[in-house]
Amino acid sequence: MRIQTLLSSLALAAVTATSAFAEGELNLYSSRHYDTDERLYSDFEAATGITINRIEAKAGALMERMRVEGQNSPADILLTVDAGNLWRAHEAGLFQPIESDVLTDRIPENLRAPDGSWYAFSQRARMIFYAKDRVENPPQRYEDLADPQYKGMICARSSSNIYMQSLLASIVSHAGQEAATAWTQGLYDNLARKPQGGDTDQLRGILSGECDIVIANSYYFARALRKPVKGLSDGIDAIGWVFPNQGDRGTHVNISGGGVAAHAPNRENAIRFLDYLASESAQAYFSAGNDEFPVVAGSDVSAEVAALGDFDADSLNVSELGVHQKDAQITYDRVGYP
Ligand SMILES: [Fe+2]
Repeated sequence: MRIQTLLSSLALAAVTATSAFAEGELNLYSSRHYDTDERLYSDFEAATGITINRIEAKAGALMERMRVEGQNSPADILLTVDAGNLWRAHEAGLFQPIESDVLTDRIPENLRAPDGSWYAFSQRARMIFYAKDRVENPPQRYEDLADPQYKGMICARSSSNIYMQSLLASIVSHAGQEAATAWTQGLYDNLARKPQGGDTDQLRGILSGECDIVIANSYYFARALRKPVKGLSDGIDAIGWVFPNQGDRGTHVNISGGGVAAHAPNRENAIRFLDYLASESAQAYFSAGNDEFPVVAGSDVSAEVAALGDFDADSLNVSELGVHQKDAQITYDRVGYP
């Protein structure tokens, strides 16, 4: 397996010249960078004899690269996180639809593009976390985060963050723009501080005492259970969690996933690879690699992910998160949520 983490055009030329069209190869553009993914790829190579050439970069950079490469792109697969990114890649014409009985059978319908252009392989829940000793009645629904009883208690990320956009996009999709605007205003009014930092920083804010209630993705918490995360793992027992909206539409989930590139030189290998990602063993690695939930029912999960417990997920098709991304940004801007 060749691993590339750089973005130089020289490196690209080398891949193109030596291997892009060779039989038994697969060119994987990936924004994933987790140690456990190594096993994922080596198992596929061992089982199929197909060599994976990997190019790793951030999602935006990979998409831009594919756009620039156009029809000459060596990319067979684009793997990335967040339905918003997958939707954008789809809109930019970077994927091609495929048909696969394996994927249709195993991946839930709401976790794949309606036209078969991309598929989810792991999912993460956007959860509510709280200080057990300071919050007696934690919010049970996303809607509760806008309730004045939580004034000055909540920390959340800035609106430029795609997780915040996707969460609001789900509210737009379910309740409409007006309700989404009222929710955003209520959340903004309840903030304990100006939106800042990443998801781990929100969780740390509970331990530092700055925040009583925060919004964060499940895997940031599960990771701090699995291994030491500075300012979080020590004292993590003080943090309680809620899977929101269990009594109604279910918890908002987002995904990591991928699809076959529009001009894939090794299309059949690419489909084999996606089929493989939906297999039992790959599902376990793929989700454990980033402390996420598998998408195929009945797959093994890590002890830390299992510790979070079972929950009902929102069954909204995740492509809706992309469809309403712009509405979400407009809503944040209208309210003046930074
Ligand atoms: Fe993340």
